[in-house]
Amino acid sequence: MPDTLTITDNRTGKKYEIPIEHDTVKAMDLRQIKVHEDDFGMMAYDPAYMNTASVKSNITFIDGDKGILRYRGYPIEQLAEHCTSFLEVAYLLLHGELPDRPHLEDWRYNIKMHTFVHENIKKLMEGFRYDAHPMGMFISTISALSTFYPEAKDIMNPDVRRKQMYRLIGKVPTIAAFTYRHSKGMPYIYPDNELTYAGNFLNMMFKIGQSYKPHPVLEHALTVLFILHADHEQNCSTNTMRSIGSSHIDPYSACAGAAAALWGPLHGGANEAVLRMLDEIGSKNNVSAIIKDVKEGKRKLMGFGHRIYKNYDPRAKVIKQLAYEVFEVTGTNPKLDLALELERIALEDDYFVKRKLYPNVDFYSGLIYEAMGFPMDFFPVLFAIPRTAGWLSHWQEHLLDPEQKIARPRQIYLGAGERNWIAINKRS
Ligand code: SDX
Repeated sequence: MPDTLTITDNRTGKKYEIPIEHDTVKAMDLRQIKVHEDDFGMMAYDPAYMNTASVKSNITFIDGDKGILRYRGYPIEQLAEHCTSFLEVAYLLLHGELPDRPHLEDWRYNIKMHTFVHENIKKLMEGFRYDAHPMGMFISTISALSTFYPEAKDIMNPDVRRKQMYRLIGKVPTIAAFTYRHSKGMPYIYPDNELTYAGNFLNMMFKIGQSYKPHPVLEHALTVLFILHADHEQNCSTNTMRSIGSSHIDPYSACAGAAAALWGPLHGGANEAVLRMLDEIGSKNNVSAIIKDVKEGKRKLMGFGHRIYKNYDPRAKVIKQLAYEVFEVTGTNPKLDLALELERIALEDDYFVKRKLYPNVDFYSGLIYEAMGFPMDFFPVLFAIPRTAGWLSHWQEHLLDPEQKIARPRQIYLGAGERNWIAINKRS
């Protein structure tokens, strides 16, 4: 049987053979379907891209029904268990292969050479109020980096792209930590390139006075969390990165836009929203009332559900296990019992079962972050740090894809037909 779709347009009786590739039809192949020769031709309507593949990618694979997530073919569970450094996974995402030792050392060296930020960045941050949301500061500062490196606009030059990737992956932890220190009115701690990626970040965040040594369990937990959050194929923020990048702007401006999309409570802002929801619930006695509100459509159960996963998010499983390791060191987060009770009730309730709503990556991550001493409004920043590597991988793949051009969707126009100007004194 041929790999084609036979479409009969019952308006005209005409038949069309549409080729099928990768179990997909090309939307442009629909344009030949017309009633009149001068018609524009058929389009597909797909709000929120529920069933539209806008790119071909080799980076990340997700099977939502089976709860599978792989970076360049490697199961996320294996990467979380075996990779001792986030930079190893960032290399994998960007280059397509796990690095051998020399390549990993070279990669690590080059990123460490770009962890500092221009001193003017400190002046830029002074403009923010003490209570500015760290994600707002983060987004603004990432965007401002484009003014320090104008050569970054030479995006088709691989050496220029590589250097901006070193800079962004190297500087996002520094900028993130600076937003935290600014909000606390504390002096900035400069990067210490003797430390690991996660260790250096914790040091810049929490060092007070001379002595600070990241606890190895917490440093490892943060490394695993960074690995789990590094990429997730065509999520809202990555789609934004690709769309902005398709206009051929520099990667700093594209990353700022992607981070803005990530901040939304339906996306990467959910980890903060989960903790605020748990605070609002307060105790197990109130869980049934919240579940009732959710089932009545009054609110969403934050940290639950996913566009792709109709099974348990594999990352949530790893994070749930990691939480116990962290709590061994920090002491249990009292909200854990509340979260477990919420999960237990939800997974037994037909409303959630029928809609295949399971805990996602954001349901448990906030409990760990809070136990580690991060403030709630800082959680989306913790998501953006590792996701920068994923955004850059997709940005580069998009730029090098010969089938891609500037992203510019069509629309179904349902507005007013042509009409003539009306003088203001004649308007009703
Ligand atoms: C991330 O895309 C990615 O890959 C994202 C991410 C990544 O790594 O980049 O995985 C990170 O963003 C995780 C998701 C974090 N967001 C939340 O936890 C917020 C709460 N979740 C929902 O808002 C929702 O589940 C979404 C946004 C995540 C997914 O929404 P969809 O795919 O558009 O699903 P939907 O809204 O169409 O829901 C289908 C049904 C609806 O009910 P009905 O209209 O059929 O009656 O399920 C219901 C929804 O109301 N539903 C929920 C729910 N999520 C969906 N009901 C209650 N609580 C929820 N959390």
